[in-house]
Amino acid sequence: MGDLPWWKRGVVYQIYPRSFMDSDGDGIGDLQGIIDRLDHLADLGVDAIWLSPIQPSPDADFGYDISDYCDVHPQYGSLETFDALVAACRERGLRVVLDGVFNHSSDEHAWFQESRQDRAGPKADWYLWRDGRGGPGQTGAPNNWASTFGGGGWEYAPERQQYFFHSFLKKQPDLNWREPAVVDAIEGVLRFWLERGVEGFRLDVFNCYLKHPELPSNPRTWNPAGLLYPYIGQRHLHDRDQDDMGIALSMMRRVADERPGRFLVGETLDEDRRYREAAGYAGSGEDQLHLAFNFHLLRSRWGAKAFHTAIMAWTQALGPDGWATWVLSNHDFPRHASRWGGRWADARCRLVAILAMTLRGTPFLYYGEEIGMREHTPPRAQIQDPVGKRFWPVHRGRDGCRTPMQWEEGASAGFTSGQPWLPLHPDHAGRNAAAQRGDPGSVLSTYRDVIALRRRSPVLQAGDMDLPEQPHAKVLSYRRSLGDASVQVLLNMSPQPQRWPAGAERHLLYGTHPGRPAELEDGEILLAPHEGLVLGNEPG
Ligand code: GLC
Repeated sequence: MGDLPWWKRGVVYQIYPRSFMDSDGDGIGDLQGIIDRLDHLADLGVDAIWLSPIQPSPDADFGYDISDYCDVHPQYGSLETFDALVAACRERGLRVVLDGVFNHSSDEHAWFQESRQDRAGPKADWYLWRDGRGGPGQTGAPNNWASTFGGGGWEYAPERQQYFFHSFLKKQPDLNWREPAVVDAIEGVLRFWLERGVEGFRLDVFNCYLKHPELPSNPRTWNPAGLLYPYIGQRHLHDRDQDDMGIALSMMRRVADERPGRFLVGETLDEDRRYREAAGYAGSGEDQLHLAFNFHLLRSRWGAKAFHTAIMAWTQALGPDGWATWVLSNHDFPRHASRWGGRWADARCRLVAILAMTLRGTPFLYYGEEIGMREHTPPRAQIQDPVGKRFWPVHRGRDGCRTPMQWEEGASAGFTSGQPWLPLHPDHAGRNAAAQRGDPGSVLSTYRDVIALRRRSPVLQAGDMDLPEQPHAKVLSYRRSLGDASVQVLLNMSPQPQRWPAGAERHLLYGTHPGRPAELEDGEILLAPHEGLVLGNEPG
């Protein structure tokens, strides 16, 4: 347990910088704002913050389109503010993790500007360029590859009289990872930030880095929705998940492992249908990442059986030596308080807080989930997300999970003195961090308490995990064990009371409902509706 790295023991907190805290009144969050609110995170007890992209960007996809990898977006501050943030984090025992967006850059990046000029320059092959189907100078997309954000994936650039490929927006051209100079350039970017004190990277859609060198068309699948949205109408054999991904990953792993305590966590595009493959990308191999995300649990419907299935699937795919990540919400999905919530939203948020902190693996929290923030999609005219603009009303975009953090009572919930870039959820007067801080039954107190429990519990950090073969229909249960110590977690996911036979673990380590004695009696435990218990065979 002593040799477990911090990124296995700890808890990572994702900040969407635009929406966390605005220090200068322009309505957009910034790095100084994060510094100003670090005490909230220290008090919560997390180990690291992961910042969604902070680099300069034209914000076609709000930072996931970077126009300079080695600087800070002026609206967020400067490299000096970043250094101050790292220092302020260190004072509080927090580490800083950045988003690495290396599948694509912005089309406004100097690399792409140069690459699009002509076919012979030094950066001519830094992106995926091809002649049109009819030959040089001809139009017609080179193959059938599509964009994840809708439509075809090829865009014609008149300067070069060629097409370039984009897995996302046409303002996000894909880098060519088969060009060794690109691998070197990204290595330089990683080193730049690691030397500034960054201790990890979350790698955006890393499984898209490598494409088949010949760029053949993907086979089509029979899916009527593919007519509207071509990306799902094909099997992605050639535009991602190539066998020689190690070209990219081995460089990244080597750089990260030069000093202990640094880690890489990968976001696998489309992992929901392919979590076994996602598991294969993580491990201790030279061309593996330390961790990979899986969103199976996040996508699951509410219920003890459904959760059991998702947890089993991910842990079994990883195998006994694997290390899981657990994500309930992030900047791409509707917030879980709304997805699972309904009339019991707060009770359910408290149960899944226990879940995330007591499963074997590393939990990633998304800002605002610690106060049970709800989804809030703005009216169509105020939609900012390119996905929402394009697909409204079929998909109303991702703005709903990116609304400003609700800090305290007041006009803009303490987020800004100006006009927030996205409208706040109207419930902010009642649901905010200040209001929940002193309330022991709040979602925030639950997070703080179970994070503290995890911090002092070697079993919860490092222990094995056993889930029953046959899941109970209403109570999600599992046991963690390390040496002689064991912890049982019981989560009544139903609105009815449930009976449960008491096991060897009788000491109450954490409970959602007041009034439980510190030591439970023999016989049966009567779980109240939505009650969650963490029980130990030793006092905690
Ligand atoms: C990832 C990010 C998402 C972004 C996309 C393109 O899926 O999480 O927010 O839009 O990649 O970079």
